[in-house]
Amino acid sequence: MAKEGAEKADETEQMIEKEGGKEAGEGSGSLRAGDTKEMRAVLLSGFGGLNKLRVSKKVMPEPQEGELKIRVKACGLNFIDLMVRQGNIDNPPKTPLVPGFECSGIIEALGDSVAGFEIGDRVMAFVNYNAWAEVVCTPVEFVYKIPDDMSFSEAAAFPMNFVTAYMMLFEVANLREGMSVLVHSAGGGVGQAVAQLCSTIPGVTVFGTASSFKHEAIKDSVTHLFDRNADYVQEVKRISAEGVDIVLDCLCGENTGKGLSLLKPLGTYILYGSSNMVTGETKSFFSFAKSWWQVEKVNPIKLYEENKVIAGFSLLNLLFKQGRSGLIKGIMDKLITLYNEKKIKPLVDSLWALEEMSRTIQVFAESEYTSVADLGRSELSSDLNEYSGTHFSTACSTLFKGLQSI
Ligand SMILES: NC(=O)c1ccc[n+]([C@@H]2O[C@H](COP(=O)([O-])OP(=O)(O)OC[C@H]3O[C@@H](n4cnc5c(N)ncnc54)[C@H](OP(=O)(O)O)[C@@H]3O)[C@@H](O)[C@H]2O)c1
Repeated sequence: MAKEGAEKADETEQMIEKEGGKEAGEGSGSLRAGDTKEMRAVLLSGFGGLNKLRVSKKVMPEPQEGELKIRVKACGLNFIDLMVRQGNIDNPPKTPLVPGFECSGIIEALGDSVAGFEIGDRVMAFVNYNAWAEVVCTPVEFVYKIPDDMSFSEAAAFPMNFVTAYMMLFEVANLREGMSVLVHSAGGGVGQAVAQLCSTIPGVTVFGTASSFKHEAIKDSVTHLFDRNADYVQEVKRISAEGVDIVLDCLCGENTGKGLSLLKPLGTYILYGSSNMVTGETKSFFSFAKSWWQVEKVNPIKLYEENKVIAGFSLLNLLFKQGRSGLIKGIMDKLITLYNEKKIKPLVDSLWALEEMSRTIQVFAESEYTSVADLGRSELSSDLNEYSGTHFSTACSTLFKGLQSI
């Protein structure tokens, strides 16, 4: 399975790059206002299991005022997409819908009043749903030019993971020289972005939890790695009796109390996910209730006495509900500078065709929980052959390949 995926990924990556240049010039010329064209997209017909996803034809969108039309070359599959599929998110939109929050591609048309971009520009973008399609339209404030040496596949794995990591470390927690950070799911897309960004600041110690089989692959990026099932509170305290300066918690449930207990005075705990609520193919009310019940009830007076900070972070809300695209644009500029200085690099594990969507997700769904861990494994390296013989599946930082071939 992994080998098959690896071969296809190579082929498709070449295809993406080759087709990229060609389509940049072609697309715009053939499009006129009033044209109704079709495109393919992955459609989620209702919340639930894998059978709710299929590739379908849809009317191709045209850019409205202030929007850019992007011919998608690659799009990211993040953990949040898994939660969307299950309906495991706050205020889920109505189905049917096209999932996906980030993509890369080539600008094919400009809406009125758009400045700073031209047809043919290589870009990466946030999209408020609809990224898993051949063409997307999104407001110009969510679009960023891709550095020359960044591939489309890297670009589709870049914005969500790195902006989330950067915002939490530098804007919310104020990471500085010599501090220590605990991050869960350290082998995942955000986890690896956190580790890379921490390495840009001298003397930062990173504690991470991840499934043991990933440790070999990520050991160089994380100072102290613990198995996800280990008693990490004891392990951290054994190494650093005072605890850590920053806890990044994407698990929630019982980990909230554990994270708070590990904070040094003036330390910051940030909740940014609730992975513990995901336990199977469909939404589980039991997992939701259990996670909710286990969250430590925090007394603000205790926080003041102990000098601790609790924060929450949601990039999608910041972007799409709270109007902070200007702030995120500034962060993207900083991240692109770090990329150009070769201090950070998005990790792409695998590329899959759009129509392979259901099959690839099926692979990990079949073995339920552990299979999702396998997803993480597939994220860790762009060398797919490294994982031959294991289930090789899509996950965060994983891109759909070959959209032009569907
Ligand atoms: N708030 C925001 O703005 C924001 C933005 C992006 C992501 N996130 C959150 O950050 C977390 C990581 O996202 P990602 O996209 O980086 O994930 P990812 O790359 O898909 O990594 C997923 C990893 O999470 C671990 N995990 C922990 N609990 C799990 C569960 N119940 N089911 C499956 N896997 C589980 C597994 O690693 P191990 O087995 O090694 O533990 C898995 O490989 C998610 O909770 C996501 O919702 C939040």
